[in-house]
Amino acid sequence: MQKAAIIGGGVIGAGWAARFLLHGWQVHFYDPSPAALEVVNRVVKTAARWVPEIYDHLPPRGELIIAPTLAEAVAEAEWIQESVPERLPIKHATLAEIQAACSVGAVIGSSTSGFMPSELQQDALRPEQILVAHPYNPVYLLPIVECVPSSVNTAAVTDRAMSLLTKIGMKPVLLKAEVPAHVGDRLLEALWREALWLIKDGVATTEQIDDIMTHGFGLRWAQKGLFETYRVAGGTAGMRHFLEQFGPCLQWPWTKLMDVPDLDDQLISRIVEQSDAQAAGRSVSELEAERDANLVALLKALRTENAAAGAFLNQLAITGD
Ligand SMILES: NC(=O)c1ccc[n+]([C@@H]2O[C@H](COP(=O)([O-])OP(=O)(O)OC[C@H]3O[C@@H](n4cnc5c(N)ncnc54)[C@H](O)[C@@H]3O)[C@@H](O)[C@H]2O)c1
Repeated sequence: MQKAAIIGGGVIGAGWAARFLLHGWQVHFYDPSPAALEVVNRVVKTAARWVPEIYDHLPPRGELIIAPTLAEAVAEAEWIQESVPERLPIKHATLAEIQAACSVGAVIGSSTSGFMPSELQQDALRPEQILVAHPYNPVYLLPIVECVPSSVNTAAVTDRAMSLLTKIGMKPVLLKAEVPAHVGDRLLEALWREALWLIKDGVATTEQIDDIMTHGFGLRWAQKGLFETYRVAGGTAGMRHFLEQFGPCLQWPWTKLMDVPDLDDQLISRIVEQSDAQAAGRSVSELEAERDANLVALLKALRTENAAAGAFLNQLAITGD
């Protein structure tokens, strides 16, 4: 059985543990917090409920081993996924501990949302062994993972990373260059900034912004992304017409992107109050359950249409991966 080590088991690490486990790997899990065990058990249970609904060829479930030390977790692992808090000193200390104990041939993926691989590799024992493998939450259901090497990672390491990630049902996208926050989080950051301004300026509430997304362009994005959506919006003349039509708007005051709203107490309170009202008493666990059920329904629908992530899952079903 192939062995993975999961270092740091919060929301993301537990999601990785569940993904590896349900794709047949032996998972060595390490997190110093006593609370982590409950988190990983809960996430694995949830994942086991949903993952078989979207993957046709799951191998027998692997084994979850709770490691007493980080060194024991990584000792014989083929893949090591670091998911500790997003603080560079913590990442550096953890990566140093990992490299002191892991095999030279292991791949070390970092879940970092924002750090570039070259930042993670600073002062590392074997920098070429570390790259970014940035997933999205929930890791056990969403196939995408951004694979980001720096200039010191060899093609052999990135090829191996891409191949291993594919084996656990993921669609790795190998970025052409490293940049802070990779690709997805840069796009999300732009949207997030605009949303904060719209709330600060009293234009819309958290619920109204979410309604505009979930009843409109959010539905488009799950199956056509940004560029194909706009290509279609250009009518039969396509992308060139779209760019000519909406090009001038780039000079108009349609965005406050370069200004960051001050996240002061007043804005934080406004967002929290609106978000509480929107949740209407539903707990985070209830919201997560709704999210997972909806994602599975969407993925199934996309499989029926053989589109976007559904086409990817159908391809896995054909190849038996
Ligand atoms: N939350 C997200 O949506 C998301 C998405 C993609 C990537 N990420 C990235 O994943 C990483 C983890 O984020 P998270 O949201 O799961 O954080 P989290 O705070 O939920 O979990 C971090 C875990 O790391 C553990 N930890 C702390 N120090 C440790 C150490 N020295 N060794 C091992 N474990 C240690 C903590 O006990 C905790 O369980 C971050 O780099 C983050 O940027 C987060």
